[in-house]
Amino acid sequence: MDELKRQKELVVTSLPEERIATSRLPGFYDLPMAERVEKVATLAGLGRAEAELLLAESASLPLETANQMIENAVGVISLPLGVGLNFRVNGVDHLVPMAVEEPSVVAAVSLAAKIARAGGGFSGTCDPSLMIAQIQVTQYGNAEVAREALLAHREQILALANSFHPAMIRRGGGATDIEVRVLPAPEGPKGEPILVLHVILDTQDAMGANLINTVAEGVAPLVEQITGGQVYLRILSNLADRRLARATCRIPVEAMADFGMTGEQVAQGIVQASRFAEVDPYRACTHNKGVMNGVDAVAIATGNDWRAIEAGAHAYAARNGRYEPLSTWRIEHADESGAQKFLVGRIELPLAVGTVGGPIRIHPTVRLAHKLIQVSSAPELAQIMAAVGLAQNMAALRALGSVGIQRGHMALHARCVAVTAGARGELVAEIAEQLIALGAAHVKLEKAKELLAQATAAGSC
Ligand code: MEV
Repeated sequence: MDELKRQKELVVTSLPEERIATSRLPGFYDLPMAERVEKVATLAGLGRAEAELLLAESASLPLETANQMIENAVGVISLPLGVGLNFRVNGVDHLVPMAVEEPSVVAAVSLAAKIARAGGGFSGTCDPSLMIAQIQVTQYGNAEVAREALLAHREQILALANSFHPAMIRRGGGATDIEVRVLPAPEGPKGEPILVLHVILDTQDAMGANLINTVAEGVAPLVEQITGGQVYLRILSNLADRRLARATCRIPVEAMADFGMTGEQVAQGIVQASRFAEVDPYRACTHNKGVMNGVDAVAIATGNDWRAIEAGAHAYAARNGRYEPLSTWRIEHADESGAQKFLVGRIELPLAVGTVGGPIRIHPTVRLAHKLIQVSSAPELAQIMAAVGLAQNMAALRALGSVGIQRGHMALHARCVAVTAGARGELVAEIAEQLIALGAAHVKLEKAKELLAQATAAGSC
């Protein structure tokens, strides 16, 4: 435990041997997909077969693998895989794989990360991979006596917990501590208080769900023996509040200038948006949805359990008794003179993510996503994901606090509508531009089909 206290906050800077030279790839957006793949393959050192896998028309998850992964499998469903660019976290560049169906998420996060580079990019920190196994005890008699008995058997409980995962212990992880909570009964003061044993486990580079649940179930008979009670639930908690990741950025306000506005005006819009979310759960919810647009996209691409991450993030957002934003923004001064101003963004959220186990072993595209992002540990992945969440949030707030979100969204939406109407190649941009020129109300499938028919007829004359 002392060791854990000592390393309360880890700043992960250890790196894989080979890493990308830069995540700044100007013009990447305009390249044909094959050339984009060529570029990231060269940067990340992917082999030919791996690059070909990214470009394969057919699903990259073989049906046979899908059939082993879940029950009642009847096929696979694909999502676009994009690369978030311009990310620099703790001085290291990363290509960020993002699987997402929503247009504008990847473009927006890449732009925000590019702006953040004016302030050196993002700094990230994270806690060790500590997770909680919960064991619910009932019919124990006196709550205080049961609590004391469990605490007195701390070493025995930890030893039993650690007997289930010798490999994890060898890697320096495993059960590190216990806590006992006595919670008021939901029925009121007369009901039996709910007694919960927490076993705290360091899951290292694994998300750890399986490991934690094995421990929760494995120690239950001992818990019953110690308390004389009956155990009901034995399961991990997704409120991973011992496994927080944080990111900050500090951007000279001039670098925020856009939309014909000064940097300070744009930064002010972001601060106003942050203040709104800080006092209003209705706004905080949407603010956090924007954060999770980025976090989830990386979670899916890297084979992580995004439902667990979502549940943890929102429970953490409500930890103070009111639902709050996961990130905040302020304008801060460099010194007393106030001459140089910075837009400072901060985010903190639980990120129970793994770089080993689960689909990471078996899903071919997930394995490639890990090759692209080049992290050496789960905490390092968590730091990058926190930075992605902060960048995604900055992108949304910078538009919302200035010209509004629809301008940017419409351009990408129009491209999607054009593709749905059947446009391909250069016609996509052409039809999209015509739709936008007609006004937001005309960005519709029928109109796109009409314009496409006209363009095709004109082209065939
Ligand atoms: C849309 O997917 C996300 C936003 O609504 C986030 C926000 O409002 O901050 C734009």
